[in-house]
Amino acid sequence: DHQRLADLIRDNIRTVPDFPRPGIAFLDLCPVFSQPALLGALAGAMSDAFAGAFDRVLAIEARGFVVGTAVACHAGRPLVLARKSGKLPGPVDSVRYDLEYGSAELQVQRDVLRPGERVIVVDDVLATGGTMAAADELVRRSGAAVAGYAVVVTIPGLGGEGRLGPAKVFSVLPTG
Ligand code: PRP
Repeated sequence: DHQRLADLIRDNIRTVPDFPRPGIAFLDLCPVFSQPALLGALAGAMSDAFAGAFDRVLAIEARGFVVGTAVACHAGRPLVLARKSGKLPGPVDSVRYDLEYGSAELQVQRDVLRPGERVIVVDDVLATGGTMAAADELVRRSGAAVAGYAVVVTIPGLGGEGRLGPAKVFSVLPTG
């Protein structure tokens, strides 16, 4: 059940203080990714959270690729990659967004997301929500709609969920 999955995920996340910069507590999900049964259960929970009611999975570079790929395979839905600037051959759509320090740009290939499609956006961590909000903007520009956001961990107190549209956010942790 969900609580058991949440406990397993929590036990397999390593928090690394002051990485990659002083003051940042980095969540290392590699121990989760290294266990096929756990990654599979995570993908199943995310897919089930939206009752399979989505047409595509949009995965966010880089750690979101791991989770998003697992969800797409589990659900049998096509995978779309949202990449950092300059990685995807064009034509692409781009959205610039703010980071804690500076800004970044997220891109998807044009005409891959189709008008009317229901897209779930998958990433590892929801923090300030800047990345997910940029993904939402890319989806809307294509005429598709975000049917939901799925993350492994939400970091409380950073306002991430508040920055996103009305679509449901599914997060394995924290579970309260
Ligand atoms: C991290 C994480 C999310 C994003 C969340 O990505 O994987 O994509 O930050 O932060 P936000 O909600 O404040 O936007 P990072 O930029 O470290 O990239 P990576 O996955 O390529 O390591």
